[in-house]
Amino acid sequence: MSEGFVLPRSGSEANPVRLAVLVSGGGSGLAALLRYQRAQRCHRTVLVLADKVDAGGLQHGRDAGVRSIGVPLPMNLDKSERREAHERLVNAELEAAEVELVVLSGYMRILTPWFVRRWKGRLVNIHPSLLPNFPGAHAHRDALAAGASVTGCTVHLVDEGVDSGPILAQREIEVLPGDDEEALQERIKLEEHVLYPEVLDRLCSGRISL
Ligand code: GAR
Repeated sequence: MSEGFVLPRSGSEANPVRLAVLVSGGGSGLAALLRYQRAQRCHRTVLVLADKVDAGGLQHGRDAGVRSIGVPLPMNLDKSERREAHERLVNAELEAAEVELVVLSGYMRILTPWFVRRWKGRLVNIHPSLLPNFPGAHAHRDALAAGASVTGCTVHLVDEGVDSGPILAQREIEVLPGDDEEALQERIKLEEHVLYPEVLDRLCSGRISL
């Protein structure tokens, strides 16, 4: 199950692991991580990258003085070539910034096997459900539709599947009577904002083994 994963080196406050945070939307998780990193940590965000030039999350990066760029899909290319060409552009930015760990934080694209293999073990995601339950883009809606009484969030390493890599940590959240998608999403995010920095501390200080 953990074949082919190469974990990041062990960082320290003096020599933190260099993170890129990839976002698609408002980036509340990114903002929480940047707040956490105001203190010296064993990881530091050196690049914020979005798949849209107007993603709200980019402003959080800029406010924190971090290089923050939109890398949109190259629409001039044929659809069949667009996805991998986009990831090659993303990868070039990661390499130019000497990134050591890629943190997906509400990045709503499924990555190709080419990209995943390049970063395997150094590519981490947060998903708003207790995986393997409710993978995909509509986790809250699916949890409510299934009548789940408990859901939550999961941090996992990314493999070639969808929301299927090794799980690093999970937190449960109770589904309350009257919850709609938005209420559930907001409660889960509060927990995500605590969990992701904690897992990054463990991952970037050699306290995770597969
Ligand atoms: C987060 O809840 C994250 O778990 C989810 O998107 C939200 C991003 O919020 N990710 C996924 O659904 C990935 N499949 P944010 O932009 O406010 O941080």
